[in-house]
Amino acid sequence: MPRIEVEDAGTFDVEEGKRLVLAIEEDAGVDILHRCGSYARCTTCRIEYLEGEPEKMTKAEVEVLEKRNLLGEVRLSCQALCDHDMKVRVLMTVTSTGLDGPGPKPERHITPEPEWVDKPA
Ligand code: FES
Repeated sequence: MPRIEVEDAGTFDVEEGKRLVLAIEEDAGVDILHRCGSYARCTTCRIEYLEGEPEKMTKAEVEVLEKRNLLGEVRLSCQALCDHDMKVRVLMTVTSTGLDGPGPKPERHITPEPEWVDKPA
């Protein structure tokens, strides 16, 4: 089982292959935003990896981060799976933004259907 450490929330053993945004929400109990329903559109599920940043990204993640000038700055937790140990910092929550809720419940699997590419250098 991968161990996921969420800064200021603790360390959690998470089901292998679980979507990271859901691990942060359900296992760590952090009110992370996922305002587009986790379709790689809104970037509100953004995080920083403090340890264990994945070398692969979905094409959808690369494209939306490029469009928002966020590539190399943040990563999207809705476009990642818990398949190894990692430590993350959550950047946008219901509490920190004052929004009316996190957004539609994400599917269990990555949406849109992932096409994996190498993280741009
Ligand atoms: S980009 Fe919207 S929830 Fe991840």
